[in-house]
Amino acid sequence: MDLRAAAVVLAAGDGKRMRSARSKVCCEVLSKPMLSWVLDACARFGLPNERVCAVLSGRDDGVRELLPAGVAQAVQAERLGTGHAVRCAENFLRAMQAAGVETVCVLCGDAPLLDETALAQSLEAHRAGGHGVTVLTACPEDPARYGRIVRGEGGVRIVEAADASPEELAIREINAGLYWFSLPYLLEALPLLQNGNAQGEYYLTDLVGMAPALGRTAGAARCANADCALGANDRRELAALNEIARRRVFDALYAAGVDIPCTDGVLIGPDVTVGADTRILPGCILTGRTAIGAGCVIGPDTQVIDSAIGDGTSADHARIERSTVGKDCRIGPYTQLRPGCDVADGVKIGNFVEVKNSTVGARTSFAHLTYIGDSDFGSGINVGCGVVTVNYDGQNKYRTVVGDGAFIGCNTNLIAPVTVGEGAYIAAATTVTEDVSPEALVFGRARQQEKPGGAKGRIKKR
Ligand code: UD1
Ligand code: CA
Repeated sequence: MDLRAAAVVLAAGDGKRMRSARSKVCCEVLSKPMLSWVLDACARFGLPNERVCAVLSGRDDGVRELLPAGVAQAVQAERLGTGHAVRCAENFLRAMQAAGVETVCVLCGDAPLLDETALAQSLEAHRAGGHGVTVLTACPEDPARYGRIVRGEGGVRIVEAADASPEELAIREINAGLYWFSLPYLLEALPLLQNGNAQGEYYLTDLVGMAPALGRTAGAARCANADCALGANDRRELAALNEIARRRVFDALYAAGVDIPCTDGVLIGPDVTVGADTRILPGCILTGRTAIGAGCVIGPDTQVIDSAIGDGTSADHARIERSTVGKDCRIGPYTQLRPGCDVADGVKIGNFVEVKNSTVGARTSFAHLTYIGDSDFGSGINVGCGVVTVNYDGQNKYRTVVGDGAFIGCNTNLIAPVTVGEGAYIAAATTVTEDVSPEALVFGRARQQEKPGGAKGRIKKR
């Protein structure tokens, strides 16, 4: 269904109060930039990327890199206030009007808890009331520095904390920073904004109080969730936001049957999914687009980034990044899977093993002290302790291929590019420099020599 709606997301502010070199909207809540929370909420609400415009500062502040393909951009070169920022998106707004869009949402890039439910609820109130503009409001515990919602005879207006009288400051209902505008009203009213206020800025919030003078009404829809407005302007607020978001993620996981016996040091991003009966132990950080199956044991002290892990797998003191691990695998303790690993079912990757950019077939085992890089290992392979794929010659990287059912003895070096055939047996301490045929037995080490009594005088008595 076409919502005939579009959105402008404000992200041109600086990181001054965050004391950050990057824009405030790049600051992360549960390892996800605040702006990405807002853009994802727009997408889940049903707005295609082409109907969303981010207002950027034009500086190298890290914001542009966060925009998904297709999201439109406008630049606000000077930070003259939230109303001025929307004005900078005028070309986008006119293009949307030409495309049949009737209603435009404006959101702040620094308020990550505003979700698709808040968007839907406020749009419904906006359309039902036939308003020129509708603002989403909330009544948080502490109204802090938020704009106050003043409901009076003439309708609704917003007073910024910096401009508010003591009576106005006592109002608990605040501006959550999400507005729905009728597009013709927005285009008509934007040029009329003035900056005669305490901060000398063009306030977007003034468009609410101005509506009656332009023959429109303004609505105020209160959000059921008092926390929805919470934004972060400094690091302390950011930490508080993280804590709220973290609790919400835990509650959703408990409801899904996930066991987190102790949440100490556990951080789970909002886009992570976890199956029922999985236990997450202390010290686990699961972020990005990570999916953990059912009946797993993750942790303690395990990091999983943008990876998928199958049912029944355990990962103990492991770090797994941009990789896929199958079902019933044993990973760890002390194991690293670097980006680009695709590990099949029933694999064991034990302590002090590093695997990078490699495929591993079912039931293959790397039990200890091994480096596997740029390799394709088949299924049912036993890899002994201390095996190294020598994938880099100082200039280029090469692949190692090992066939199903092979046995790679301890301390073998596989000098890539090299292929070991199915069922081949490499004796311990061999340096494999040439391809090995299937089923072959290969030794490649100096023959042992023994000098009887030759140790005499060589070992210091203790
Ligand atoms: C704003 C509202 C306030 C509301 C609060 C909710 C105004 C005047 N006030 O205050 O009523 O309660 O949000 O979170 O709008 N930005 C730009 N260009 C600018 C200024 C800001 O793009 O020139 C962006 C910022 O990056 C930020 C958003 O607009 O994402 C809000 O700006 P901020 O300065 O944080 O406004 P608040 O003081 O929080
Ligand atoms: Ca803010």
